[in-house]
Amino acid sequence: MVKQIYLDNAATTPVKKEVLEAMLPYFTEKYGNPSSIYRLGQATRAAIDDAREKVAKAINANSREIFFTGGGSEADNWAIKGIAYANKSKGNHIITSKIEHHGVLHTCEYLERNGFEVTYLDVDKNGIVDIEQLKNTITDKTILITIMFANNEIGTIQPIKEIGSIAKENRIYFHTDAVQAIGNIKIDLDELNIDLLSMSAHKLYGPKGVGALYIRQGVKLHPHIHGGAQEKNRRAGTENVPAIVGFGKAVELAYETIDEHNRKLMTLRDKLINDIYKKIEYVRLNGHPENRLPGNVNFSFEFIEGESLLLSLDMVGISASSGSACTSGSLDPSHVLLAIGLPHEIAHGSLRLTLGDFNTEEEMDYVVENLEKIVDRLRQMSPLYENVAKR
Ligand SMILES: Cc1ncc(COP(=O)(O)O)c(C=O)c1O
Repeated sequence: MVKQIYLDNAATTPVKKEVLEAMLPYFTEKYGNPSSIYRLGQATRAAIDDAREKVAKAINANSREIFFTGGGSEADNWAIKGIAYANKSKGNHIITSKIEHHGVLHTCEYLERNGFEVTYLDVDKNGIVDIEQLKNTITDKTILITIMFANNEIGTIQPIKEIGSIAKENRIYFHTDAVQAIGNIKIDLDELNIDLLSMSAHKLYGPKGVGALYIRQGVKLHPHIHGGAQEKNRRAGTENVPAIVGFGKAVELAYETIDEHNRKLMTLRDKLINDIYKKIEYVRLNGHPENRLPGNVNFSFEFIEGESLLLSLDMVGISASSGSACTSGSLDPSHVLLAIGLPHEIAHGSLRLTLGDFNTEEEMDYVVENLEKIVDRLRQMSPLYENVAKR
């Protein structure tokens, strides 16, 4: 039987047993509508309040500042459009980076088509945003800076504190997409000048389709969904109670075990990186060598096509992700890899392996052993590699 090794934890994670157990009663016996005033309803209201406390505690926020959403993309959309439309009398300029998730990039592009101006900051070869460029592009029309906490493809962690200080000095709102950071990085909002922060549950062993937006008290933001009074009249619709409960449990567990989780993932990550370097030639590690997510490994393999690599890995039971945007029906290489300066052909030969709580050291050995064989086989079919090998 082929092994199953899941190395795509940045795409999504399995729901932990404890999380599922916490959720289950809210599908059956605890099914009341949280807006109902009788006890059955009030029990689910209390469960939502409890989850809100847990999410707030994880980032050292006040629970009044946590608003549940249908995931990270929704939180990004709400933060950016909400700030843009509520503050357009002040200005129409937004600053972001070239390596954001599409939840941010496509929202910014939408706003550009609707009268806003957006600056997309460059990043260096490790994926860190250009801070000087950020300072130089701020104008009196700038209303929002939106820069992700940590990148989903190359794992680079941004200098969030510094960006927050620049935003504060210039009285500009600062939003960060922390979907990949939450559960992997300790976030203390008291120390960081963040006004809005996006989260998602399914990257930290919670259910899919639920997340939250932290909105600092006093931030001027348009409501997201009009209708009922849920989420303080800002995001209407009957709450997804089981998912919210699961998110609360997942985030609580993640921060209870974060030191152990990070130690484990970093050990596996560094082993994988070192072994790939040792066993395979013509490779480069993408992303920052130190300031990177504990579970992120992203390599480019010269003379290889990423899709062939992924399919071959799948044949031996390894689930990973490539550096092309093929999931969206395009064969363009990832915008993140191009932004860090990789030529198209190298970006095409990239592989993202993202580790999680359920991975083991033996799995890393199995991955490297198979990767070595597959890369060798694919390179034998490459005329470009043949020329290099002859030299
Ligand atoms: C950095 C980042 N932002 C936003 C999202 C979107 O989150 P969701 O899948 O919850 O909409 C993702 C998911 O891949 C992500 O990695």
